[in-house]
Amino acid sequence: MLRTGLLWLSERPQVFRLLRRNGLARRFAARFVAGETVESAVEAARGLNRAGITATLDFLGESITREPEAAQARDTYLQLLDRIAREGVQANVSLKLTQLGFDLGPELCLANMTAILERAKALENFVRIDMESSHYTQRTLDFFTGLFDRYGRHCGVVIQSCLRRSEADVERLISMGARVRLCKGAYLEPPDVAFQAKADVDRNYIRLMELLLARGNYPALATHDVALIEHAKRFARKQQILPSRFEFQMLYGVRRDLQAALRRQGYNVRVYIPFGTQWYPYLMRRLAERPANIAFILGNLVREAVHRS
Ligand code: FDA
Repeated sequence: MLRTGLLWLSERPQVFRLLRRNGLARRFAARFVAGETVESAVEAARGLNRAGITATLDFLGESITREPEAAQARDTYLQLLDRIAREGVQANVSLKLTQLGFDLGPELCLANMTAILERAKALENFVRIDMESSHYTQRTLDFFTGLFDRYGRHCGVVIQSCLRRSEADVERLISMGARVRLCKGAYLEPPDVAFQAKADVDRNYIRLMELLLARGNYPALATHDVALIEHAKRFARKQQILPSRFEFQMLYGVRRDLQAALRRQGYNVRVYIPFGTQWYPYLMRRLAERPANIAFILGNLVREAVHRS
């Protein structure tokens, strides 16, 4: 119920307009967002690199409604790729198609995406297309497939285990040799397209993870779910799949202990680092995943306030 309410709120930009300048809300966001600038994201990535953890940098923004916003997102990604290369940061980038103008027209989005992929190719880097709600799944996969021949080594996509269609999508992506990030899915979805029970989403995650580990191209297992991570480790050991053939991915600010432990055990770990001013929908999805975060963050803020006084 609370999850549904938070996800519903995540799609209400008018609430963000109210919260944007609110100091408490911004400090809430700081738990999950590296900062508002490219510099803050690169700095966070450097910190993780020092612990042997790689990063994927996400300039926050989605569902933009004006062409200049899409151009700004494109330019920020170009700048990011340049800085990553120039400064030797171990990082790639993640983006959303609706941030590059997907809703304004596929041609605009394609032009922006091509500019980013050309740069990533020239710099030997990689761009992950995040998956948005099921409204976009087919269109995102079609768009990705259209880019694959030219940029397949430099571009990957995301599959959500909550969606009923995902096994067929995973099979097709495996047969293409595409790089897939597997996650559970962060959007409110109707029962005809998505499993509603956590147990079903998790069961499907295991099924898709095994397919990707056994036959996929360097899959990224994006989850903080310890049971799923342990399953992946056991499955890989049993099938003699080396840790170098896949990576675990987690979100900035979530389960830092687990990130470090996996790295110590010799697994590749990549952390998704969001930054920018458009943090509201991202933050609301993180709170929906674990409403206890609201209490956790409030508790921290109170402790800090008591310390200062
Ligand atoms: P689950 O939600 O069951 O959580 C398992 C455990 O992890 C919890 O019990 C808790 O301990 C911890 N945990 C999870 N979320 C937490 C949080 N916010 N704060 C604190 N603890 C938390 N989704 C999508 O639809 N499209 C996408 O492109 C992506 N991309 C993506 C990249 C990366 C690197 C990650 C890690 C995740 C995504 N996601 C995503 C989000 C994903 O779909 C999912 O919503 C979250 O990862 C939470 O699901 P878990 O697999 O962690 O399991």
